[in-house]
Amino acid sequence: MSELVLREDHGPVRTLVLHRPEKKNAFDPAHASAFAAALAEADADPTVRVIVVTGAGNVFCGGADVSVFLAIGAGRMEEVLPVKGVPHAIGAVKKPILAAVQGPAVGMGVTMLPYFDVVYASTNASFVVPFVRLGLVQEFGSSWTLSRALGRQRAAELLLRATPLDADTAERWGLVARTFAPEKLLDEVRTIANDMASAPAGALAEAKALLRSGELERAPADAEAAEDAALSKRYGSPENVQAVQAFLARRKR
Ligand code: COA
Repeated sequence: MSELVLREDHGPVRTLVLHRPEKKNAFDPAHASAFAAALAEADADPTVRVIVVTGAGNVFCGGADVSVFLAIGAGRMEEVLPVKGVPHAIGAVKKPILAAVQGPAVGMGVTMLPYFDVVYASTNASFVVPFVRLGLVQEFGSSWTLSRALGRQRAAELLLRATPLDADTAERWGLVARTFAPEKLLDEVRTIANDMASAPAGALAEAKALLRSGELERAPADAEAAEDAALSKRYGSPENVQAVQAFLARRKR
């Protein structure tokens, strides 16, 4: 199995570590496929009761690899489908799945968070959804999931202002459940995961399914369909190409 996602088992808790540190754990198709495979494997493994996802290094996830935007703009959507599938791979997990955000979360590093059951963060984490600055719009049904989690006003500021939100504010706004000191984050989240793991597995799975059932399943899908229609015109648009080229060029200056 790929080194793009590391696995650590502590009793019934499996920690999956997004591990593409040289690109700040951004998702390209290979990384996204490795993550989806690791999730499915953990979900199928009877020794695993609860899953924790964190990032390697100082960034939780730098979002989609910007090369993905260029590929879609050039009509190569098939190539990048694994990246688009990441939130659905998280949402398909039947066991409780917790995020431990240990540093900045960018773009899909944020929009995938509502697909976790509970999100925890270190006090030095930050959250930014920079799509409009890239000439794009939000994705993964986050028009709906973020509005629901944060309330419309706060979701609108996050999406339209598109500047980083600090961890304290993210906790107050309900994007994350709790924050912990950076050096304690993983231990604390694993303790919570262990508590969850001590409940009967059948009840846990059913309680989780109830939380995600009915309207909660359909509404994000409707929002995602509307976002995809907008995004299909925005990928490869002059605004998008210019913004991505500016990001890629900034290192060379
Ligand atoms: N896609 C591709 N490469 C990425 C990336 C992404 N989403 N995020 C980071 N990288 C790369 C950088 O290009 C750089 O590569 P290089 O060393 O080959 O030049 C490397 O990762 C380190 O990034 P750097 O910006 O120097 O790290 P940092 O610690 O100063 O900042 C982030 C980290 C995550 C805050 C910053 O890289 C960032 O904002 N990235 C996201 C950019 C973006 O717009 N993503 C799209 C989301 S919608």
